[in-house]
Amino acid sequence: MICENIQNREGRLQFAGQDVSVLAREYGTPVYFLDAERIRRNCRVYKHAMNVGFERALPIFASKALCIKHVLAIVAQEGLGVDVVSAGELYMAKLAGVNMENIFFHGCSKSDEEIGYGVENGVGYFIVDGEDELLALARIAGEKGVRQKILLRLTPGIDPHTFEAVATGQLDSKFGVPIETGQAEAFLRLALSLPEIQVCGYHAHVGSQVFESQVFRDTADAMLAFIGSMRDKLGFVPQMLNLGGGYGVRYVESDPYLDIAWEISKVAGYIRRRCAQDKLQVPMILMEPGRSIVADAGLTVYTVEAVKAIPGSKNYLCVDGGMADNPRYALYGAAYTVLTPEKLNMPRDLVCTIGGHCCESGDMIQENVPMPRLSRGDLVAVLTTGAYNYSMASNYNNVPRPPIVMLDGSRSYVAVRRETYEDIAAREL
Ligand code: LLP
Repeated sequence: MICENIQNREGRLQFAGQDVSVLAREYGTPVYFLDAERIRRNCRVYKHAMNVGFERALPIFASKALCIKHVLAIVAQEGLGVDVVSAGELYMAKLAGVNMENIFFHGCSKSDEEIGYGVENGVGYFIVDGEDELLALARIAGEKGVRQKILLRLTPGIDPHTFEAVATGQLDSKFGVPIETGQAEAFLRLALSLPEIQVCGYHAHVGSQVFESQVFRDTADAMLAFIGSMRDKLGFVPQMLNLGGGYGVRYVESDPYLDIAWEISKVAGYIRRRCAQDKLQVPMILMEPGRSIVADAGLTVYTVEAVKAIPGSKNYLCVDGGMADNPRYALYGAAYTVLTPEKLNMPRDLVCTIGGHCCESGDMIQENVPMPRLSRGDLVAVLTTGAYNYSMASNYNNVPRPPIVMLDGSRSYVAVRRETYEDIAAREL
């Protein structure tokens, strides 16, 4: 249940064991809260399940989901590696003290500067997305006297059955090199011919917010088939296989519940059987969860600023945040659970559109939500906002980004302070 154990003795919303309305009054709104212990627990699920399922394994946090020092430090302490997709994310991982050896540098259009920055900083592995990057990396690594370890990003030709903007495994994806067309083999041959490059394995990520076990099994299947065929053709056997991220999380009660530990054990069983059958040694298995590490650790709280009823039409609740701090409804029509921290038990008998603060009709948090009768000054909380909210936030309408307040045991502290107008203006000359 998404809404299990959410009420404190006073009948108000609690999150990470703390009273949301007290916190919201203390820190102001809009505000993101993050449950540190939940992040740790989510990391442990992966760590444990992968250690049980495989002889050698490493979960890697996809930092694009929420790239702040405090979170990166927690996941690193929990023994996860970190995936970065830009020099900016790498910079943050460095500030957080993440061991560079456990960093995996992604991205489909890395510039020479980014590649140079990664090599200089001793990034463990580049996940090379195509031949242009491979040649640039070989040149730059050569100039710096480094033999760079890499994984090759391949496209296994799998449809993850998720929303189009986050599907990446299909043949026509902008990411990786397709297996089906023979280009992956040419890519591997080229990589193996470069003395500045050490090929450690392959990577595939087919999509995000995926609930079907079959998708992960099919990905493993396609990758193992490629491993087998390259062993037979070229005598090359990779040490590592990275199966990407993508396990779905529940935003609303109607979303399916995915038991990630169970899913991992099923994939592991399949990989072990398949490797035994093909007489392959099981490679070290990596997975790259982002959303399922941080999404349910996040909660955003807003204040209602305006209530509007259009007779025979819509009821609007307009709040002090929206697409600038959470663009996911505007972008994908993403569903969220909306609660009223101080009015949890009032009848939800008014169907509302929760409108945002920005000057755009599409700025909405959610539509058609049954809500209690609220007025200006009431609080509204949106659950499961830990992933792809802060990291995709903008300053549209020069709205300052909300702070991130960490909740850890009985403590709360500001991990990222609220942005100011001065911050927004600071880069103008
Ligand atoms: N690895 C790679 C190579 C990825 O591209 C991604 C996500 C992940 C791992 C992590 O996937 P996750 O476990 O978080 O599903 N902005 C979209 C999500 C974009 C995901 C991009 N790649 C959203 O808000 O839903």
